[in-house]
Amino acid sequence: MIHVAILGYGVVGSGVAEVLHENAGAIGRRAEEEIGVKYILVRRDYPDSPFRDRMVRDFSLIEQDPQVEVVVEVMGGTGAAKEYTERALRAGKSVVTANKELVAEHGYELLQLAREHGARYLFEASVGGGIPIIRPLSQCLAANEIEEITGILNGTTNYILTRMIRGGLSFEAALKEAQDNGYAEADPTADIQGHDACRKICILASLAFGRHIYPRQVPTQGITELTGADVAYAGSAGYRWKLLGRAIRQADGRLCIYVAPHLVEEENPLSGVEDVFNAITVKGNAVGDVMFYGRGAGKRPTASAVVADVMDVAKHRKGPGELSWAPGGEDTVAPADALESRWYVRLAE
Ligand code: NDP
Ligand code: HSE
Repeated sequence: MIHVAILGYGVVGSGVAEVLHENAGAIGRRAEEEIGVKYILVRRDYPDSPFRDRMVRDFSLIEQDPQVEVVVEVMGGTGAAKEYTERALRAGKSVVTANKELVAEHGYELLQLAREHGARYLFEASVGGGIPIIRPLSQCLAANEIEEITGILNGTTNYILTRMIRGGLSFEAALKEAQDNGYAEADPTADIQGHDACRKICILASLAFGRHIYPRQVPTQGITELTGADVAYAGSAGYRWKLLGRAIRQADGRLCIYVAPHLVEEENPLSGVEDVFNAITVKGNAVGDVMFYGRGAGKRPTASAVVADVMDVAKHRKGPGELSWAPGGEDTVAPADALESRWYVRLAE
């Protein structure tokens, strides 16, 4: 059994506890070990939570418990989150996080600290919510020189821009909906002023180009200056406003990295990325263009990525984490006549 401690029981923390509980069977089978939540660090009461028996208020309990192998930091910020991450890593516990602010500001030193203490620091959920992007970029595309990364990296702003054009909502009403859905940061100015997208492009660029890129180095403009009229006019002219983060390797080898709203033509696949969805295109010198798409924020999509990192820690404990599956059987696949005798299969709308 792998014992996990979750720091923070907000949108993502509660999602992580739920997914670990609901999908325990599949998770245990794939990780080849049961994974259970032993502690949840909170600072107020949750009397209705099914996990209230595991809630604690003192991080030292977690730090000093040798059974805890993985700490999931989903409190946010760079204060207590950084302190607890460092203490967990120093105690040899691996840390999994969705906290892009901390990774973007201190990822280099935290990865070093993890290495020094035989632990791991994993952050798949820090970019793109439920979209697999950190591991594909750092492993599956590792043979490439990365030439460019361009992405819709913030679900809240994409949701706002979509709701303004499709639902006719005001900026404020659309932001309120995004907050109610659990997409926005605790302080949503990080979303609407582009800082969240900036942190994410910094993380992707650091992985792609092998050097820590700090948010302060990246010119950043959010969507606060776009008016309802700007959004409507772009739509009528065959364009969509999209907040893009971009990292481009220039011919002279220097990097150009920035975040800004762009007018995207309707023919461009990024223009059709709506609501909370994110999309990221990566251009590698061997593979060409690859695109990643999915829900970029929200409780369960983000928990999906966090839990996958926890499972990765569990699998690596046993060895290099090779792919595997169990032997098959005749009853595994439904017989073809289940499709009836049609010569084509129509996909549901
Ligand atoms: P929330 O604000 O919903 O949750 C954070 C929780 O952490 C709150 O319950 C807060 O408690 C608790 N917390 C903060 N500090 C402490 C502390 N010192 N001790 C104990 N508990 C503490 O945020 P989210 O769940 O939305 O986000 C968490 C992290 O995940 C952030 O880094 C965010 O950027 C990231 N993220 C969020 C996504 C999303 O869709 N929401 C997607 C991807 C990443 P209290 O309620 O008392 O303030
Ligand atoms: N506030 C972030 C967003 C959460 O809206 O994209 C996901 O990182």
